[in-house]
Amino acid sequence: MMKRVNTLSSEQTKEKKQTIFSGMQSTGVITIGNYFGALKNWVKLQDEYNCLFCVVDLHSITVKQEPAKLRQSSRDLLALYIAAGLDPEKNVMYYQSHVPQHAELSWILGCYTYMGELNRMTQFKEKSQKHVENINAGLFTYPILMAADILLYQTDLVPVGHDQKQHLELSRDIAERFNNIYGNVFTVPNPYIGKVGARIMSLQEPTKKMSKSDENVNAFISLLDEPNVVMNKIKRAVTDSETTAIYADDRPGVKNLMDIYSCATGETIEKTKEALEGKGYGDLKKIVGEALVAEMEPVQKRFFEIKQDKAYLDSIIKKNAETASYLANKTLRKVKKKIGFPE
Ligand code: TRP
Repeated sequence: MMKRVNTLSSEQTKEKKQTIFSGMQSTGVITIGNYFGALKNWVKLQDEYNCLFCVVDLHSITVKQEPAKLRQSSRDLLALYIAAGLDPEKNVMYYQSHVPQHAELSWILGCYTYMGELNRMTQFKEKSQKHVENINAGLFTYPILMAADILLYQTDLVPVGHDQKQHLELSRDIAERFNNIYGNVFTVPNPYIGKVGARIMSLQEPTKKMSKSDENVNAFISLLDEPNVVMNKIKRAVTDSETTAIYADDRPGVKNLMDIYSCATGETIEKTKEALEGKGYGDLKKIVGEALVAEMEPVQKRFFEIKQDKAYLDSIIKKNAETASYLANKTLRKVKKKIGFPE
């Protein structure tokens, strides 16, 4: 059994390496904002840390989902993890729904979380305003499940975006509360503060974050958009009434395009300015579009190869879920014992 635990193949590294956990929802498309903001950064963590990257499909059903679409997009997201460069032999990548310990710990932690705490969550307030017809209990208890995700694996560090900070803070509070009652059961997780990359903004309203749920498809670029679609969306991107490019906060459209270039090429902002400032908007968009396509094409190519190899993907899904389950059980057994459930 131990041999299967692929991230812990060497007992030595097990001692030294810290654990990182993160997850993404499998619904809809992955935008270049998700890619540059999360996925691509995860790739850099895989050698230094024990990483678990989860497709959080239990979280997805807090809003209505079509079964066939959910199944397909979950599979696609896992394939995208691999296509983006996450090595399934180095990281534990799996579906949350394949590891029932998440739901089990979530129930338990729910009994150590106060209604008042959940009531304060800004994401709940936002989402319940957005889905007034479906304000379900899962939407309310969503942060408890997220705490379970993190605490199950004795996670040290969690790379999360700004919108998830409050949830991570709550996970810490729950862990500390539990530890205060029962002794040191959970590692109290910290946010992973990486090199802060640019936030990719909407191409149509560049003061808003790029979002896959934007009604205007020209506002976002999916990681799987075809090259001509990418070029067209960039071409249509909102700029301003000036004529040549300058990187400045009060010119958010142009700044966003230059940030996209910087993310796609890996160049610093300084180098990006040198390359692009002074260009006319037609040229600017062409250069940015081409750089983006060059970054996306190999990922897309790998994605379609992986997707076609059903047996390969299935074997990875199975193996990684077993690893996750093994690790999760270690924590869950301890939790149950401490609480006083019969052995
Ligand atoms: N709630 C996160 C999001 O929507 C996804 C998520 C679920 C997550 N569980 C997690 C992120 C645990 C980090 C750690 O982005």
